[in-house]
Amino acid sequence: MSGLDEQVTNEPWRVGVLFSQSGFMALIEDTQFRGTMIAIEEINANGGINGRELQPVIYDPASDNSLFRAYAHRMLSKDGLSTIFGCYTSSSRKAVLPVIERLNGLLWYPTLYEGFEYSPNVIYTGAAPNQNSMALCEYLTERYGSRFYFVGSDYVYPRESNRIMRELLQRNGGEVVGESYVPLNSKRHDFNPIMRDIKQAQPDVIFSTVVGIGTVYLYQSFNDFNLDPKQTPIASLTTTEAEIQAMGSDVGEGHITAAPYFQSIEGGSNRAFVERYRRRYGDSESTNMCAEAAYFQVKIFAGALEMTNSLQTDVLRPMVLGQSFEAPQGTVSIDPRCSHANVWSRIGKVNRGGQFEVVQQSLSAVNADPYLVGMMRPGMA
Ligand code: ACM
Repeated sequence: MSGLDEQVTNEPWRVGVLFSQSGFMALIEDTQFRGTMIAIEEINANGGINGRELQPVIYDPASDNSLFRAYAHRMLSKDGLSTIFGCYTSSSRKAVLPVIERLNGLLWYPTLYEGFEYSPNVIYTGAAPNQNSMALCEYLTERYGSRFYFVGSDYVYPRESNRIMRELLQRNGGEVVGESYVPLNSKRHDFNPIMRDIKQAQPDVIFSTVVGIGTVYLYQSFNDFNLDPKQTPIASLTTTEAEIQAMGSDVGEGHITAAPYFQSIEGGSNRAFVERYRRRYGDSESTNMCAEAAYFQVKIFAGALEMTNSLQTDVLRPMVLGQSFEAPQGTVSIDPRCSHANVWSRIGKVNRGGQFEVVQQSLSAVNADPYLVGMMRPGMA
Protein backbone atom coordinates (compact mmCIF):
# COMPACT_ATOMS: atom_id res chain seq x y z
CA MET A 1 0.00 0.00 0.00
CA SER A 2 1.39 3.45 -0.89
CA GLY A 3 1.88 6.14 1.70
CA LEU A 4 -0.95 8.08 0.11
CA ASP A 5 -3.36 5.11 0.40
CA GLU A 6 -2.44 4.64 4.05
CA GLN A 7 -3.13 8.29 4.67
CA VAL A 8 -6.49 7.96 2.93
CA THR A 9 -7.43 4.85 4.89
CA ASN A 10 -6.60 6.62 8.16
CA GLU A 11 -9.03 9.43 7.39
CA PRO A 12 -11.99 9.61 9.77
CA TRP A 13 -15.43 8.39 8.71
CA ARG A 14 -17.44 11.60 8.41
CA VAL A 15 -21.14 11.40 9.28
CA GLY A 16 -23.87 14.05 9.54
CA VAL A 17 -25.70 14.87 12.78
CA LEU A 18 -28.89 16.90 12.37
CA PHE A 19 -30.91 17.58 15.52
CA SER A 20 -32.30 20.91 16.79
CA GLN A 21 -30.20 22.26 19.61
CA SER A 22 -32.27 25.46 19.69
CA GLY A 23 -35.92 26.43 19.20
CA PHE A 24 -39.10 24.79 20.48
CA MET A 25 -37.97 21.22 19.67
CA ALA A 26 -34.57 21.44 21.37
CA LEU A 27 -35.92 20.04 24.66
CA ILE A 28 -36.14 16.55 23.14
CA GLU A 29 -33.90 16.78 20.06
CA ASP A 30 -30.94 17.80 22.16
CA THR A 31 -31.23 14.46 23.99
CA GLN A 32 -31.08 12.69 20.60
CA PHE A 33 -27.97 14.71 19.85
CA ARG A 34 -26.53 13.54 23.17
CA GLY A 35 -27.39 9.89 22.51
CA THR A 36 -25.70 10.13 19.11
CA MET A 37 -22.57 11.76 20.55
CA ILE A 38 -22.24 9.23 23.36
CA ALA A 39 -22.27 6.38 20.84
CA ILE A 40 -19.72 8.14 18.61
CA GLU A 41 -17.43 8.89 21.54
CA GLU A 42 -17.68 5.31 22.78
CA ILE A 43 -16.83 3.92 19.35
CA ASN A 44 -13.85 6.27 19.04
CA ALA A 45 -12.63 5.42 22.54
CA ASN A 46 -12.55 1.79 21.39
CA GLY A 47 -10.36 2.59 18.38
CA GLY A 48 -12.98 3.69 15.83
CA ILE A 49 -14.22 1.49 13.00
CA ASN A 50 -11.51 -0.53 11.28
CA GLY A 51 -8.99 1.82 12.84
CA ARG A 52 -10.69 4.99 11.63
CA GLU A 53 -12.46 7.44 13.92
CA LEU A 54 -16.05 8.57 13.44
CA GLN A 55 -16.15 12.32 12.90
CA PRO A 56 -19.51 14.03 13.33
CA VAL A 57 -20.37 16.97 11.06
CA ILE A 58 -22.95 18.86 13.10
CA TYR A 59 -25.57 21.44 12.14
CA ASP A 60 -28.32 22.96 14.28
CA PRO A 61 -31.53 23.29 12.21
CA ALA A 62 -33.13 25.24 15.08
CA SER A 63 -36.60 23.58 14.87
CA ASP A 64 -37.05 24.96 11.34
CA ASN A 65 -37.99 22.45 8.60
CA SER A 66 -36.50 24.57 5.81
CA LEU A 67 -33.15 24.52 7.65
CA PHE A 68 -33.40 20.72 8.04
CA ARG A 69 -33.78 20.46 4.30
CA ALA A 70 -31.02 23.01 3.50
CA TYR A 71 -28.52 21.39 5.89
CA ALA A 72 -29.32 17.89 4.61
CA HIS A 73 -28.63 19.14 1.10
CA ARG A 74 -25.38 20.76 2.21
CA MET A 75 -24.25 17.59 3.98
CA LEU A 76 -24.91 15.33 0.99
CA SER A 77 -23.52 17.71 -1.65
CA LYS A 78 -20.97 20.25 -0.39
CA ASP A 79 -19.77 18.28 2.64
CA GLY A 80 -19.56 15.01 0.72
CA LEU A 81 -21.41 12.94 3.34
CA SER A 82 -23.79 10.04 2.75
CA THR A 83 -25.00 9.12 6.26
CA ILE A 84 -27.11 11.44 8.43
CA PHE A 85 -28.35 10.75 11.94
CA GLY A 86 -31.23 13.12 12.53
CA CYS A 87 -34.78 14.46 12.70
CA TYR A 88 -37.43 14.24 15.38
CA THR A 89 -40.64 15.65 13.89
CA SER A 90 -42.23 13.83 11.00
CA SER A 91 -42.49 17.18 9.21
CA SER A 92 -38.69 17.60 9.36
CA ARG A 93 -38.23 14.02 8.13
CA LYS A 94 -40.60 14.67 5.25
CA ALA A 95 -38.74 17.91 4.46
CA VAL A 96 -35.44 16.03 4.28
CA LEU A 97 -36.75 12.96 2.44
CA PRO A 98 -36.66 14.23 -1.18
CA VAL A 99 -33.07 15.43 -0.70
CA ILE A 100 -31.97 12.12 0.83
CA GLU A 101 -33.66 10.13 -1.92
CA ARG A 102 -32.40 12.28 -4.80
CA LEU A 103 -28.80 12.29 -3.56
CA ASN A 104 -28.98 8.65 -2.37
CA GLY A 105 -28.06 9.30 1.25
CA LEU A 106 -29.04 7.22 4.26
CA LEU A 107 -31.06 8.92 7.02
CA TRP A 108 -31.13 7.21 10.42
CA TYR A 109 -34.36 8.37 12.08
CA PRO A 110 -34.54 7.69 15.86
CA THR A 111 -38.10 8.82 16.61
CA LEU A 112 -41.51 7.20 17.01
CA TYR A 113 -43.80 8.24 14.20
CA GLU A 114 -47.19 7.68 12.55
CA GLY A 115 -46.12 4.85 10.23
CA PHE A 116 -47.35 4.47 6.66
CA GLU A 117 -44.00 5.38 5.14
CA TYR A 118 -41.18 3.47 3.54
CA SER A 119 -38.07 4.86 1.90
CA PRO A 120 -35.05 2.82 0.83
CA ASN A 121 -33.02 5.79 2.05
CA VAL A 122 -34.26 5.75 5.66
CA ILE A 123 -33.63 3.41 8.60
CA TYR A 124 -36.47 3.94 11.11
CA THR A 125 -35.44 3.11 14.68
CA GLY A 126 -38.31 4.57 16.75
CA ALA A 127 -41.66 2.86 17.29
CA ALA A 128 -44.35 2.53 14.62
CA PRO A 129 -48.05 2.51 15.70
CA ASN A 130 -48.27 -1.28 16.08
CA GLN A 131 -45.43 -1.05 18.64
CA ASN A 132 -46.93 1.69 20.83
CA SER A 133 -50.48 2.87 19.96
CA MET A 134 -52.07 -0.59 19.87
CA ALA A 135 -51.00 -1.64 23.38
CA LEU A 136 -51.73 1.85 24.75
CA CYS A 137 -55.28 1.88 23.42
CA GLU A 138 -56.08 -1.50 24.97
CA TYR A 139 -54.48 -0.59 28.29
CA LEU A 140 -56.36 2.70 28.56
CA THR A 141 -59.77 1.37 27.60
CA GLU A 142 -59.44 -1.50 30.10
CA ARG A 143 -58.24 0.68 33.00
CA TYR A 144 -59.78 4.13 32.47
CA GLY A 145 -62.62 3.93 29.94
CA SER A 146 -63.18 4.41 26.26
CA ARG A 147 -64.10 8.10 25.84
CA PHE A 148 -60.93 9.82 24.57
CA TYR A 149 -60.16 13.48 23.97
CA PHE A 150 -57.38 14.13 21.41
CA VAL A 151 -55.03 17.10 21.78
CA GLY A 152 -52.09 17.52 19.43
CA SER A 153 -49.58 19.84 17.84
CA ASP A 154 -50.74 20.81 14.38
CA TYR A 155 -48.68 18.83 11.89
CA VAL A 156 -48.56 15.45 10.21
CA TYR A 157 -47.61 13.13 13.13
CA PRO A 158 -50.45 14.18 15.48
CA ARG A 159 -53.12 14.23 12.76
CA GLU A 160 -52.11 10.80 11.40
CA SER A 161 -51.48 9.31 14.84
CA ASN A 162 -54.97 10.44 15.89
CA ARG A 163 -56.48 8.92 12.77
CA ILE A 164 -54.96 5.57 13.78
CA MET A 165 -55.92 5.93 17.46
CA ARG A 166 -59.51 6.74 16.45
CA GLU A 167 -59.67 3.53 14.43
CA LEU A 168 -58.15 1.45 17.24
CA LEU A 169 -60.52 3.01 19.74
CA GLN A 170 -63.58 2.35 17.60
CA ARG A 171 -62.50 -1.29 17.26
CA ASN A 172 -62.42 -1.40 21.07
CA GLY A 173 -65.95 0.06 21.22
CA GLY A 174 -64.79 3.54 22.23
CA GLU A 175 -65.33 7.06 20.91
CA VAL A 176 -63.51 10.37 20.45
CA VAL A 177 -65.32 13.08 22.40
CA GLY A 178 -63.15 16.03 21.31
CA GLU A 179 -60.15 16.86 19.13
CA SER A 180 -58.02 20.03 19.33
CA TYR A 181 -54.74 21.18 17.81
CA VAL A 182 -52.27 23.88 18.85
CA PRO A 183 -49.40 25.42 16.85
CA LEU A 184 -46.03 23.66 17.16
CA ASN A 185 -44.62 26.73 18.90
CA SER A 186 -47.62 27.01 21.25
CA LYS A 187 -47.52 28.91 24.53
CA ARG A 188 -49.04 27.99 27.88
CA HIS A 189 -52.14 30.15 27.38
CA ASP A 190 -52.97 28.27 24.12
CA PHE A 191 -54.06 25.33 26.28
CA ASN A 192 -56.60 27.24 28.41
CA PRO A 193 -59.54 26.96 25.97
CA ILE A 194 -58.68 23.30 25.43
CA MET A 195 -58.78 22.57 29.16
CA ARG A 196 -62.18 24.27 29.38
CA ASP A 197 -63.39 22.09 26.52
CA ILE A 198 -62.00 18.98 28.23
CA LYS A 199 -63.78 19.86 31.47
CA GLN A 200 -67.04 20.06 29.55
CA ALA A 201 -66.51 16.88 27.52
CA GLN A 202 -65.47 14.84 30.61
CA PRO A 203 -63.39 12.23 28.75
CA ASP A 204 -61.90 9.15 30.43
CA VAL A 205 -58.50 9.79 28.81
CA ILE A 206 -56.69 12.69 27.15
CA PHE A 207 -54.57 11.34 24.31
CA SER A 208 -51.79 13.84 23.65
CA THR A 209 -49.75 14.12 20.48
CA VAL A 210 -48.32 17.47 21.55
CA VAL A 211 -44.53 17.59 21.06
CA GLY A 212 -41.57 19.72 22.14
CA ILE A 213 -41.83 22.46 24.74
CA GLY A 214 -45.64 22.57 24.17
CA THR A 215 -45.80 19.27 26.08
CA VAL A 216 -44.65 21.05 29.23
CA TYR A 217 -47.38 23.70 28.86
CA LEU A 218 -50.09 21.07 28.22
CA TYR A 219 -49.41 19.19 31.47
CA GLN A 220 -48.95 22.41 33.46
CA SER A 221 -52.25 23.71 32.14
CA PHE A 222 -53.94 20.39 33.08
CA ASN A 223 -52.59 20.97 36.58
CA ASP A 224 -53.75 24.63 36.62
CA PHE A 225 -57.29 23.48 35.85
CA ASN A 226 -57.21 21.02 38.78
CA LEU A 227 -57.73 17.96 36.62
CA ASP A 228 -56.78 14.66 38.26
CA PRO A 229 -54.51 12.14 36.47
CA LYS A 230 -55.96 9.30 38.56
CA GLN A 231 -59.31 10.00 36.95
CA THR A 232 -58.38 11.39 33.52
CA PRO A 233 -54.71 10.76 32.72
CA ILE A 234 -52.88 12.30 29.79
CA ALA A 235 -51.62 9.39 27.68
CA SER A 236 -48.91 9.96 25.10
CA LEU A 237 -46.41 8.35 22.74
CA THR A 238 -43.98 11.29 22.96
CA THR A 239 -43.84 12.50 26.57
CA THR A 240 -40.50 11.28 27.93
CA GLU A 241 -38.35 11.76 31.02
CA ALA A 242 -37.02 14.97 29.39
CA GLU A 243 -40.42 16.68 29.18
CA ILE A 244 -41.35 15.41 32.67
CA GLN A 245 -38.18 16.94 34.12
CA ALA A 246 -38.95 20.25 32.37
CA MET A 247 -42.57 20.39 33.61
CA GLY A 248 -41.74 19.19 37.14
CA SER A 249 -42.27 15.62 38.35
CA ASP A 250 -45.16 16.74 40.61
CA VAL A 251 -46.96 17.91 37.45
CA GLY A 252 -46.14 14.75 35.49
CA GLU A 253 -46.95 12.21 38.21
CA GLY A 254 -49.67 9.70 37.31
CA HIS A 255 -49.63 10.35 33.55
CA ILE A 256 -48.95 7.58 31.04
CA THR A 257 -46.63 7.02 28.06
CA ALA A 258 -46.18 4.06 25.69
CA ALA A 259 -42.57 3.65 24.50
CA PRO A 260 -39.95 1.00 23.71
CA TYR A 261 -37.67 2.31 26.46
CA PHE A 262 -37.73 4.10 29.81
CA GLN A 263 -34.69 4.99 31.89
CA SER A 264 -36.06 2.86 34.74
CA ILE A 265 -35.96 -0.52 32.96
CA GLU A 266 -33.75 -3.29 34.34
CA GLY A 267 -30.78 -4.79 32.57
CA GLY A 268 -27.02 -4.49 32.34
CA SER A 269 -26.99 -2.80 28.95
CA ASN A 270 -29.32 -0.06 30.20
CA ARG A 271 -27.39 0.41 33.45
CA ALA A 272 -24.20 1.04 31.48
CA PHE A 273 -26.00 3.45 29.11
CA VAL A 274 -27.56 5.47 31.95
CA GLU A 275 -24.20 5.66 33.76
CA ARG A 276 -22.45 6.84 30.61
CA TYR A 277 -25.15 9.45 29.95
CA ARG A 278 -24.94 10.81 33.48
CA ARG A 279 -21.17 10.86 33.51
CA ARG A 280 -21.20 12.87 30.29
CA TYR A 281 -24.17 15.21 30.90
CA GLY A 282 -24.65 15.36 34.66
CA ASP A 283 -26.20 13.29 37.45
CA SER A 284 -29.55 15.07 37.26
CA GLU A 285 -30.05 14.20 33.58
CA SER A 286 -32.25 11.29 32.50
CA THR A 287 -32.10 9.17 29.39
CA ASN A 288 -35.28 8.62 27.36
CA MET A 289 -36.62 6.63 24.40
CA CYS A 290 -35.39 9.18 21.84
CA ALA A 291 -31.86 9.39 23.26
CA GLU A 292 -31.75 5.59 23.44
CA ALA A 293 -32.81 5.10 19.80
CA ALA A 294 -30.29 7.76 18.74
CA TYR A 295 -27.63 5.81 20.66
CA PHE A 296 -28.37 2.28 19.46
CA GLN A 297 -28.79 3.28 15.81
CA VAL A 298 -25.20 4.59 15.72
CA LYS A 299 -24.03 1.29 17.18
CA ILE A 300 -25.93 -0.68 14.52
CA PHE A 301 -24.48 1.61 11.85
CA ALA A 302 -20.97 1.01 13.23
CA GLY A 303 -21.46 -2.78 13.19
CA ALA A 304 -22.50 -2.66 9.54
CA LEU A 305 -19.71 -0.25 8.55
CA GLU A 306 -17.13 -2.50 10.16
CA MET A 307 -18.20 -5.24 7.74
CA THR A 308 -18.60 -3.15 4.57
CA ASN A 309 -15.74 -0.72 5.20
CA SER A 310 -17.72 1.59 2.95
CA LEU A 311 -20.15 4.42 3.63
CA GLN A 312 -21.78 4.14 0.21
CA THR A 313 -25.51 3.81 0.77
CA ASP A 314 -25.91 0.97 -1.75
CA VAL A 315 -23.16 -1.02 0.00
CA LEU A 316 -23.97 -0.17 3.62
CA ARG A 317 -27.76 -0.50 3.60
CA PRO A 318 -27.94 -4.23 2.71
CA MET A 319 -25.57 -4.91 5.63
CA VAL A 320 -27.76 -2.89 8.02
CA LEU A 321 -30.92 -4.83 7.15
CA GLY A 322 -31.30 -7.81 9.47
CA GLN A 323 -28.70 -6.55 11.99
CA SER A 324 -29.55 -7.02 15.63
CA PHE A 325 -28.11 -5.29 18.68
CA GLU A 326 -28.28 -5.62 22.45
CA ALA A 327 -29.73 -2.14 23.04
CA PRO A 328 -30.49 -0.60 26.44
CA GLN A 329 -34.20 -1.47 25.86
CA GLY A 330 -33.31 -5.15 25.09
CA THR A 331 -32.45 -6.92 21.85
CA VAL A 332 -33.58 -4.96 18.79
CA SER A 333 -33.12 -5.66 15.08
CA ILE A 334 -33.67 -3.95 11.75
CA ASP A 335 -36.47 -5.69 9.88
CA PRO A 336 -35.19 -6.30 6.34
CA ARG A 337 -38.72 -6.17 4.89
CA CYS A 338 -39.42 -2.57 5.88
CA SER A 339 -36.18 -0.96 7.21
CA HIS A 340 -37.88 -0.30 10.54
CA ALA A 341 -36.54 -1.48 13.90
CA ASN A 342 -38.24 -4.30 15.77
CA VAL A 343 -38.52 -2.64 19.18
CA TRP A 344 -40.13 -3.40 22.54
CA SER A 345 -43.61 -2.28 23.53
CA ARG A 346 -43.89 -0.85 27.04
CA ILE A 347 -46.34 1.28 29.00
CA GLY A 348 -45.08 3.42 31.85
CA LYS A 349 -46.72 5.61 34.48
CA VAL A 350 -44.82 8.60 35.89
CA ASN A 351 -43.93 8.36 39.57
CA ARG A 352 -43.15 11.11 42.09
CA GLY A 353 -39.46 11.02 41.14
CA GLY A 354 -40.19 11.82 37.48
CA GLN A 355 -39.37 8.30 36.30
CA PHE A 356 -41.67 5.84 34.57
CA GLU A 357 -42.83 2.72 36.38
CA VAL A 358 -43.40 0.05 33.77
CA VAL A 359 -46.95 -1.26 34.14
CA GLN A 360 -46.97 -3.49 31.06
CA GLN A 361 -44.40 -4.76 28.54
CA SER A 362 -43.98 -7.15 25.65
CA LEU A 363 -42.00 -10.37 26.16
CA SER A 364 -39.58 -9.44 23.38
CA ALA A 365 -39.24 -6.93 20.55
CA VAL A 366 -42.41 -6.52 18.47
CA ASN A 367 -41.97 -6.84 14.72
CA ALA A 368 -42.45 -3.50 13.00
CA ASP A 369 -45.65 -3.31 10.96
CA PRO A 370 -45.63 0.30 9.74
CA TYR A 371 -48.64 -0.16 7.45
CA LEU A 372 -50.66 -2.02 10.13
CA VAL A 373 -51.03 -4.97 7.78
CA GLY A 374 -51.43 -7.26 10.81
CA MET A 375 -54.61 -5.43 11.84
CA MET A 376 -56.24 -6.67 8.66
CA ARG A 377 -55.56 -10.33 9.47
CA PRO A 378 -58.52 -12.43 10.58
CA GLY A 379 -58.60 -12.62 14.36
CA MET A 380 -56.62 -9.38 14.85
CA ALA A 381 -59.55 -6.96 14.68
C1 ACM B 1 -43.01 12.72 15.34
O1 ACM B 1 -43.25 13.79 14.77
N1 ACM B 1 -42.66 11.66 14.62
C2 ACM B 1 -43.06 12.59 16.78
